[in-house]
Amino acid sequence: EKGGYDYFMLKEIAEQPKAVADTLLGRIDGSGSLTLDEVRIPPRVLREIDKVVIVACGTAFHAGMIAKYAIEHWTRIPCEVELASEFRYRDPILDAQTLVIAISQSGETMDTLMALRHAREQGSKVLAICNTNGSTIPRESDAVLYTHAGPEVAVASTKAFLTQLVACYLVALYLGQTRGTKWGDEIRAVIRDLSSISGAVERVLGTMEPVRELARTLASKNTVLFLGRHVGYPVALEGALKLKELAYMHAEGFAAGELKHGPIALIEEDLPVVVVVPSPRGRSVLHDKIVSNIQEIRARGARTIVIAEEGDEAVVPYADHLIRIPVTPTLLQPLVATVPLQVFACELATARGNEVDQPRNLAKSVTVE
Ligand code: F6R
Repeated sequence: EKGGYDYFMLKEIAEQPKAVADTLLGRIDGSGSLTLDEVRIPPRVLREIDKVVIVACGTAFHAGMIAKYAIEHWTRIPCEVELASEFRYRDPILDAQTLVIAISQSGETMDTLMALRHAREQGSKVLAICNTNGSTIPRESDAVLYTHAGPEVAVASTKAFLTQLVACYLVALYLGQTRGTKWGDEIRAVIRDLSSISGAVERVLGTMEPVRELARTLASKNTVLFLGRHVGYPVALEGALKLKELAYMHAEGFAAGELKHGPIALIEEDLPVVVVVPSPRGRSVLHDKIVSNIQEIRARGARTIVIAEEGDEAVVPYADHLIRIPVTPTLLQPLVATVPLQVFACELATARGNEVDQPRNLAKSVTVE
């Protein structure tokens, strides 16, 4: 049942190109248009939405953080993203013009369920992004967009995360299409890029051996830090979460711009720091800033593990270890940048003798608040 892999997690990491392709199937076409028949919230209602609120927990929350960048950029609708467990208890401002998006692999996470119930009581429409057919969260929502990752058995979420990202991009593009905001060449180009993204995920998977080797050399470390900017920031948080839950190591993700506001004090000789570098094209200001961050931490002794696009030569002098990812549009980069972090955490967990599929103290679906 593990299909020749030692762990479900390895199998599920390997299944990601297919999971991504399956989640796009029938929803986009090569000409750059989009059909989401399942979203039964009428276009008239979607055109009146003046705020999007995303609620989720854990890895699904990180997908929501990335969705915020895409939704605001492509639709210009203000978007908030909040941990489901915090959302409900602070009396959030919601009304019929708010679209709430609940992201959940299992569809049974109690915190997320309670958040969506609260939102519906306030008259908001709820769209679920979910991987489990017929589970409670989609049943209680106004509409659902299913991710087609197939069953995820390992406790640590991998393929579900990538498909949550795909679903979030689809929703963002669909909102843009329905509302006519910024709908045009850029969005059509993104849809075309999405149709080839599964191949990019496949290519990253083919280059992971050096990441495994590196992970094995770090098995006795106590701490690993992760830095990112823009959509690379949630990717850094996700990399840190994977390492905590699988390797039981102290791992923290930071927005790289925050370094000088505190975290740089943590840098010491030989501390592994993983840096997710944005594309040098597109938002090149961010790229240049992060390159100077890498320089700064390396000058203070950090061992830099740099994840950067193919062809990005500016990072080479400051990377103790360089992990290449394919060129993608800025907003889609998390689909390829997350993969090495999953492999890294899985290999470190194995090297430390941990149970990869069933980390201690964790359950696959958290049905209590
Ligand atoms: C991390 C992980 C958890 C879940 C979280 C939400 O690898 O698996 O953080 O992402 O418990 O679960 P769902 O998506 O089922 O609501």
